[in-house]
Amino acid sequence: MAKIHQTFVCQSCGAVYNRWRGRCEACNGWNTIVEETGTAGPASGPVATRPSRARGRVFPLEGLTGEAKEAPRTPSGIAELDRVTGGGFVRGSVILIGGDPGIGKSTLLMQAGAAMAFRKERVVYISGEEAVGQVRLRAERLGLADREVELAAETNVEDIVETLSQGRPPALAIIDSIQTMWTETVESAPGTVTQVRSSAQALIRFAKTTGTAVILVGHVTKDGQIAGPRVVEHMVDAVASFEGDQGHHFRILRAVKNRFGPTDEIGVFEMTDGGLSEVPNPSALFLAGRDHAAPGTAVFAGMEGTRPLLVEIQALVAPSSLGMPRRAVVGWDPNRLSMVLAVLEAHGGIRLGAHDVYLNVAGGLRITEPAADLAVAAALVSSMSGAALPAETVYFGELGLSGAVRPVSQAVARLKEAEKLGFSKAVMPQARSDVGERGMQTEALRHIADLVAGITSG
Ligand code: TYD
Ligand code: MG
Repeated sequence: MAKIHQTFVCQSCGAVYNRWRGRCEACNGWNTIVEETGTAGPASGPVATRPSRARGRVFPLEGLTGEAKEAPRTPSGIAELDRVTGGGFVRGSVILIGGDPGIGKSTLLMQAGAAMAFRKERVVYISGEEAVGQVRLRAERLGLADREVELAAETNVEDIVETLSQGRPPALAIIDSIQTMWTETVESAPGTVTQVRSSAQALIRFAKTTGTAVILVGHVTKDGQIAGPRVVEHMVDAVASFEGDQGHHFRILRAVKNRFGPTDEIGVFEMTDGGLSEVPNPSALFLAGRDHAAPGTAVFAGMEGTRPLLVEIQALVAPSSLGMPRRAVVGWDPNRLSMVLAVLEAHGGIRLGAHDVYLNVAGGLRITEPAADLAVAAALVSSMSGAALPAETVYFGELGLSGAVRPVSQAVARLKEAEKLGFSKAVMPQARSDVGERGMQTEALRHIADLVAGITSG
């Protein structure tokens, strides 16, 4: 019998203390430390499911050739999801999918499970939040009620492992959500770090021993962390977040970590009455409803992983009545905006010190690429000067602190996408004759001052 003792565990990062304190020293979170009773730690897994000690085998590294080279995968059949996982679920791998409540995680996973079941794979959907009837209602709404997905409403991990172990091992097991799971081996309440970690451990062990791919659904806290345990993120093979805001219909699945695939790919979906539908051409969606004639909007030719993506950047620059003018950003890095503003002031002759600045990436997309600098600068200068940018032009390029416009990767892919969507001109770091021949006109910029001169004079 393991020794029971009191510990104080940070619910945000999982750091363990022997007495309570107001602030976690590991993650600097306030009021995140909670008393837990239990046998925390990796050594205390459930004894019943521990494989026998004789199992240990070693393999020579050089001998691992042929079939062992590429991890065996089962595609979900949903192309946008498979793009994010890197071609399908790897056997025995564990994926954590996080997202705000109501964003559509259960919907996405029910659709993925049903698509796999349609191809005669065994899929088990375990719901710890909804009754079987509710899950079935959702499946009916999605038109998937006739698919052979096995449903269970279960929260005890030992029971779940038992359920999954009956019959042939499932190709996919969906656990919705990890925060509702509990194991008998620890005494803490469900949802606490110790419970979530121990439950995740038991399920990961199940995945590794049986080859079942396991998806853990995780809730996200206000500040975007997967609630409770960041520790779980370290334990699993892949972490993806399902994003989007409630005001928009589209949703983005973004790989955050992936041991078996890329981490810069996104999958784009649209939430409809009949569930999530794939968006194979997201640029058209993100540019829909664009107001060509309004000053302050620029089209950015971006890349998300291997896929080019065109989005509209909107800026509003207005005289401020505040001593400290406002800077508000949606969808981009606020520090990056401060830098672009400073470069415009110092090298572009644009005085923004007495102006409020609002920046928005239309459609609710979040951009992380520095290549958006030039489009942001163009939108800001356009709003400030009241001169609308030409409707058929896209912008991309990184800005240096010296005001230099720096080259970015994959210019050709960006230009091709822009051309496909009817744009005829690109303002970018260096001229490209190879793409210019295809019908795109390119304007090479070396310095931010050239951009400002181009917009304010035209
Ligand atoms: P859900 O998958 O339950 O979200 P999560 O598991 O992330 O909490 O989806 C919740 C929202 O999706 C809900 O507000 C209703 C909406 N929805 C649709 O618009 N169409 C549909 O076909 C379904 C099933 C849900
Ligand atoms: Mg749900």
